Amino acid sequence: MLHPLPGKRTLIFGCDNHSILRASRIIKKGGLVAFPTETVYGLGADATNEKAVARIFQAKGRPQDNPLIVHISNLLQLETVARDIPSAAYTLAQYFWPGPLSLVLHKHEAIPEIVSAGLDSVAVRMPADKIALNLIKKSGVPLAAPSANLSGKPSPTLAIHVLADLTGRVDAVINHSCRIGLESTVLDLTGPIPVILRPGEVTADDLEKVLKTKVLRPDRVRKNGIPRSPGIKYRHYSPQAPLILITGRKLIRKTLIKELEKYYQAKGYKIINLNRFIEELGGQPQKVEQFARLLYNALRKTDYLHCDLILVEQIDDESLGRAVMNRLGKAATRILKV
Ligand code: TXA
Ligand code: MG
Repeated sequence: MLHPLPGKRTLIFGCDNHSILRASRIIKKGGLVAFPTETVYGLGADATNEKAVARIFQAKGRPQDNPLIVHISNLLQLETVARDIPSAAYTLAQYFWPGPLSLVLHKHEAIPEIVSAGLDSVAVRMPADKIALNLIKKSGVPLAAPSANLSGKPSPTLAIHVLADLTGRVDAVINHSCRIGLESTVLDLTGPIPVILRPGEVTADDLEKVLKTKVLRPDRVRKNGIPRSPGIKYRHYSPQAPLILITGRKLIRKTLIKELEKYYQAKGYKIINLNRFIEELGGQPQKVEQFARLLYNALRKTDYLHCDLILVEQIDDESLGRAVMNRLGKAATRILKV
């Protein structure tokens, strides 16, 4: 458990121009601002300021070997962050930026090593959210920003999630929400074949259509048994209670989840059925966009409710559903395939 840093206050800003200007002044002075993007909240600092970036790792309790994504607001800025940029990057930028796609490219020397955790590559993204773009523009520098949660917690999709994790550990939070609710697709363009390191709203099919070449999918991406993206090796998105993910044939899935609920309830366990819980939070769980947007909020709420066990049934593994299943797989303590 990390505690507030002594004597620090966290300001809460609105999304108006004046507030964004104040937030950008904090960034320019080497401070930390949590800001909404269309995916999840980012914890931003000046990517060219080594000390400011070091504070991100400290605030999150993030392992030093897990690199950060650098957020830009225009294509000229891309050339200050990356070098030897392949034409595929520009093709993808034209179609998907601003948007939820991070490209791993060769790092420019102006970006300190701490950002890329010593790698000679760097992940870059131009977010679509107007508040995020405005903050980067006003700051006048690219922003290094991981998700604005304590390391190991679900990514924040609301300002209250950031405050729950980082009050007293960051200088300010901009109050808004995130449209998609899951992190960006991360695509590695440093090798001969583009490789998806993390699935997101932009799918492999979307990328292949635009690039007109094959793109390697996640979960098959290992170099000598070592995951290519450092972040992959950490257990993420985990609620406090154990989570059982049930996958496989629909009818058997439904029967099993009912039986498990009955069995554990009889033992006095407090169970949360996550699909139903998302419905109670106002989402239609069969609509993948709504499931995605509410997923992290729901996982955090299971912590507040101190439940003993979370059960969740798979959703269709297509388009955004693939990203949802990837996150559920990481949150799960057990996966039961029936
Ligand atoms: O949607 C998002 O991507 C959000 C918003 C704030 O932009 N950011 C985010 O950052 O999810 P973070 O730090 O929580 O996840 C970044 C992922 C990690 O898994 C990290 O290992 C990977 O991207 N990554 C960053 N730089 C990389 C690099 N140079 N090579 C390989 N993987 C990299
Ligand atoms: Mg993260």
